[in-house]
Amino acid sequence: MEKFDWERLPFGYTKTDFNIRCVYKDKKWGKLEVSSSEYIDIHIAATGLHYGQEAFEGLKAYMGKDGKIRLFRWEENAKRLIASADGIKMEAFPVEMFREALFKVIQLNKKFVPPYGSGATLYIRPLLYGSGAEVGVKPSSEYTFLIFVTPVGPYFKGGIRPVNMLICRDVDRAAPLGTGIYKVGGNYAASMRAIVTARNGGYSNTIFLDAKEKKYIDECGPANFFGIRDNTYVTPKSESILNSITNMSLIEIAKSMGMKTERRPVPVEELSSFVEAGACGTAAVISPIAKIFDPEKNMIYEYCKDGEPGTETLKLYKKLTSIQNGDEPDTFGWVTIVE
Ligand code: PLP
Ligand code: COI
Repeated sequence: MEKFDWERLPFGYTKTDFNIRCVYKDKKWGKLEVSSSEYIDIHIAATGLHYGQEAFEGLKAYMGKDGKIRLFRWEENAKRLIASADGIKMEAFPVEMFREALFKVIQLNKKFVPPYGSGATLYIRPLLYGSGAEVGVKPSSEYTFLIFVTPVGPYFKGGIRPVNMLICRDVDRAAPLGTGIYKVGGNYAASMRAIVTARNGGYSNTIFLDAKEKKYIDECGPANFFGIRDNTYVTPKSESILNSITNMSLIEIAKSMGMKTERRPVPVEELSSFVEAGACGTAAVISPIAKIFDPEKNMIYEYCKDGEPGTETLKLYKKLTSIQNGDEPDTFGWVTIVE
């Protein structure tokens, strides 16, 4: 097999041996099919291509010191894909079939699960799209579900190194009653302009504000935001952000560590009161934020002034990753071992 430099792996695509597919046709899901092709044959009029009838998920498999492969809260991803499917009127992929496809694709690609301690993981990408032909705007009558896997390094370069973020006021990722709560491709397409502006300016990503009033923090690119002050973990509640499984877990972990937690609208000005801030998600894990620049207000909010992650952020990061890697007992019941 190819030799990987696991420690230097980017968050990018690397070919693995197999992926799994399943087609919904004539009102029923067919059998799971294993494929070694990286390509799909798609109808030129598929609704997934033209009308964005497409949703995806992202989760990781972690190799433990004990040589066991662990998954973190995979049922939440399965359920969220069902919610996303419903949000754009696609056929849902059943949880039990999701489980079967997930375990199978990992087992078939076991050799691509990065070793314990390398900082890399196997990223798992389930995808569901309208594959039937339509020309009018209406839901497809055929759907394709697939999962591919690829070994990845950290999303934000440097792992737990603090990153800089740019507040974006001239692009909306999602409307309040739109699709922001679903993990659908259209939200990511809508975010591209802002992300390119942020990257060109030397920032890791963009902080989106609520589209209606531009008063509250929504999300940090493909991750949720949190701020910490007075032993309190504060994270936005919004009708246009993805309900992050990592964030849900960090709220529980923070509580178990004796912190208070608040999930509520977070006004932009509150950024100046936080002692620590970060972005969290499956790909991002926890990325501490060093600096947030608000170009319109000409404001800079600074954290991690010594260049190091804050103490509370680091504690949360250690606890979360220890559970995911199997270094600590899973007292929350979040981990499943892939036998
Ligand atoms: N927000 C967005 C827009 C995302 O794409 C993701 C990634 O899935 C997250 C937040 C984090 O969610 P999770 O922790 O479930 O990966
Ligand atoms: C994830 O955190 O799994 C995501 O889906 C982020 C991705 C869009 C890069």
